Amino acid sequence: MNMRFEPAHALSGTVRAPADKSISHRVALLGAMSSEPLRIERYLHAADTTSTLEAVQALGALVEVNGENVVVRGSGLREAREPEGTIDVGNAGTLMRLLPGWLAAQEGRSFTLDGDESIRRRPVDRIAAPLEQMGADLRARDGRFAPLEVHGAHLRAISYELEVPSAQVKSCVLFAGLAADGATTVGEPTRSRDHTERLLLRAGVAIHRNGRHVTVVNTDELALEPISVPGDPSSAAFLIAAGVLVPGSRLLISDVGVNWTRVGFLRILRRMRGIVLGDLEDESGELTRDEPVSDLDVAHGALEGTVVEGEEVPLAIDELPLVALLGCFAEGETLVRGAQELRVKETDRIAGVVDGLRGLGAEIEATPDGFVVQGTGGLRGGTIDAQGDHRMAMVGAVAGLASKEGVEVIGMGAAAVSYPGFIEDVQRLC
Ligand code: S3P
Repeated sequence: MNMRFEPAHALSGTVRAPADKSISHRVALLGAMSSEPLRIERYLHAADTTSTLEAVQALGALVEVNGENVVVRGSGLREAREPEGTIDVGNAGTLMRLLPGWLAAQEGRSFTLDGDESIRRRPVDRIAAPLEQMGADLRARDGRFAPLEVHGAHLRAISYELEVPSAQVKSCVLFAGLAADGATTVGEPTRSRDHTERLLLRAGVAIHRNGRHVTVVNTDELALEPISVPGDPSSAAFLIAAGVLVPGSRLLISDVGVNWTRVGFLRILRRMRGIVLGDLEDESGELTRDEPVSDLDVAHGALEGTVVEGEEVPLAIDELPLVALLGCFAEGETLVRGAQELRVKETDRIAGVVDGLRGLGAEIEATPDGFVVQGTGGLRGGTIDAQGDHRMAMVGAVAGLASKEGVEVIGMGAAAVSYPGFIEDVQRLC
């Protein structure tokens, strides 16, 4: 589906952010691993997280959907059923990386995971390596890509240092650790989103953090009280960027998750002098079970360029294409480096954002691990191809609202992967 976004006048009003994608994937998987039914309020009903509900059903869980809410009746930590055919993860990288952690612990059972064209280009060796050290047998195409076979085994606990800061790989190893013999430790080079740790703490699992290391002790059973999923700060980021860029805008986005490991983009935006009021969680070394939420009040204003690097990168990884867009409107230069992980997202998001924004009139150059943008005060407009990537489609839409001549987005339908109501929400605010 192609769609044109004309230059907007002022955006105003209130929108509730869609439910968090990362948390929805995790609670559906934890529900499937639990022996007691798990009631989930405000599950994200989007393409990616629907793939997760379908996957857990194929593995023996019963899923009841009632409007926004979902109940998952799991089969238990060590009782995933061997499905008839391949488990289809669709476009969902998080499902592709997290699910094998659980499946690796299913002794004597085998599973094959596959997905769309984008999934088949994204590396899975990063999860195969630790799971093999724990005793499972994994086979990936060319040793690196889907389809991925997981042959479950009795797992042993390991201590594992991640090479890249990845919440997906960390979560995969922690899931495997739940059913391994002993205590499993994962070290990350810098902090990444910690939803899995918070949820495991809620589930009564013995888990603790020591600086960059998280240790989980194996357990017999998981049980979770009903969970309400907060709004997704990564989805909210598109509306926030639109509010900041379109002159005269003033909007309120309600119920946004403000876990400090997820709001790197808001800290960057504030440094760029963007106006976003809200009660962001403070950085903490302690593990907590809660996912804080806040309303965010956004207003248009002038921006300054900034540098994003180091520990900030994983905490804003999905929003870095939006930082490039903001950089086009900011005064001076905006530089992102140390973000080579962007090259293995749903698309190569360094190439995609640089080519895409350049086609709209931006002065932006790619580097091996990021990009450099010269702020020119605005964007002309034109056509941008989302290349099947949900976040690139929404970057194109926001660029159109803030541009001089409007933007045609090729493949706008991709937004439904994480934010099916995006177009309606934008129309309401316009
Ligand atoms: C996610 C982690 C990030 C992020 C992805 C969701 C998660 O990926 O880009 O959209 O839910 O754990 P990596 O862990 O590969 O950095």
